[in-house]
Amino acid sequence: MDKRELTIDYFLFPNRFPAEYENLCRKAIEASACSYSVYSEFAVGAALLLENGEIVTGSNQENAAYPSGMCAERTALFYAGAAFPDIPVRALAIAACYKGLPRENFVPPCGACRQVMAETIKRYNQDFDVVMIGQKESVMLKASALLPFAFSF
Ligand code: THU
Repeated sequence: MDKRELTIDYFLFPNRFPAEYENLCRKAIEASACSYSVYSEFAVGAALLLENGEIVTGSNQENAAYPSGMCAERTALFYAGAAFPDIPVRALAIAACYKGLPRENFVPPCGACRQVMAETIKRYNQDFDVVMIGQKESVMLKASALLPFAFSF
């Protein structure tokens, strides 16, 4: 038996956004205002920067039949895939508010969104940056680092 280890690199940005993604981070925060989250009161905004410079945003859209709702990240990723099918993703920023207040701690994406990110990497054969925004600090890492052993076939 061989023991292997996986390590991930991630970067902390106390009190600010990564300089290169400042505008993208602001768009993610703005997008959270478009959330339809009457059930959880947890409003998430996502902003995707595409390789052609286009920014696509998404927010979580809930439903009385709870599982029928959709996360902010997948709303943005699926829209980008549908509207700009040939353009790779360069970066994704994620922000959230709970009951109208921005989150102190950065918000990591759920497992299903990570799987969709893994598919996006595969689709364009290109990894991308993910910025998870918090009031206290933001964290940036590669999408591939969020889901080791992602399902694929
Ligand atoms: N949510 C997202 O939009 N993104 C995530 O990565 C995790 C959770 C949404 C789903 C639901 O509308 C609310 O946050 C509470 O779970």
